[in-house]
Amino acid sequence: MIQIDVLRRKNKEEPAYLQSFLYEPKEPSETVATALRRLNEQASLTDKEGNRADPIVWENSCLQKKCGACAMVINGRPMLACDASLSALKSPVRLEPLRKFPVVADLMVDRSILFQNLKDLNAWLTADADPSEKKNPDAYEASRCLQCGCCLEICPNFAVDGRFYGMASMVPAARLLVQMPEKEKKELAAEYKRHVFEGCGKSLACQDICPAGIDLQGLMARSNAAAVWRRLLWKKRN
Ligand code: SF4
Ligand code: SF4
Ligand code: FES
Repeated sequence: MIQIDVLRRKNKEEPAYLQSFLYEPKEPSETVATALRRLNEQASLTDKEGNRADPIVWENSCLQKKCGACAMVINGRPMLACDASLSALKSPVRLEPLRKFPVVADLMVDRSILFQNLKDLNAWLTADADPSEKKNPDAYEASRCLQCGCCLEICPNFAVDGRFYGMASMVPAARLLVQMPEKEKKELAAEYKRHVFEGCGKSLACQDICPAGIDLQGLMARSNAAAVWRRLLWKKRN
């Protein structure tokens, strides 16, 4: 039997409280996502003390580490619930919502700022994308970003209302920056410099936490070159 402690909150106005559940995995390979689904499937969910409990609010979609929806803080570390094997976690397993984003309820947070930041950066395609791994390895690597927000949770420089947009914005911007001709990327390069390049401390704590295993260091080096260093040279010559 595993004890799962969930930091709960009915909505962002209500105070948070910890509620414990006892859960018996049916298979050794079960994940936190499986446990949450099975707890919520119970006709009448009860906590460790036997009190009736409301279903636990959390987000999920693919359950295959592809959508990023189930990101949460598990035993103090931002992870995907569908990638967190119960057998690898110390019990009690503590589940908390990502702390950098406003809480909607329980483990569900509002990550709409990620998309707002991409809009601010002007990071969108105006032509067909070609993210084939062989022809455009950086675009392919960047296209694996789940927009889960785990990198922002760990980043000391990111705040929802801050000027620094973090790796969740750097990666999609890199996908465009490394492919655009110099004269076409003026706007994106300027926003990238302001919201990514100038705020990053380059500790690369985010690299270790990314559940997609994206080469953040390599992408950042090449997009910094494309948005800042090569543009300085290009401006000098033109
Ligand atoms: S390198 Fe450091 S400051 Fe830059 S995004 Fe990663 S964690 Fe944040
Ligand atoms: S870079 Fe990695 S951790 Fe950050 S949002 Fe993309 S997939 Fe998630
Ligand atoms: S549910 Fe899609 S990544 Fe976990």
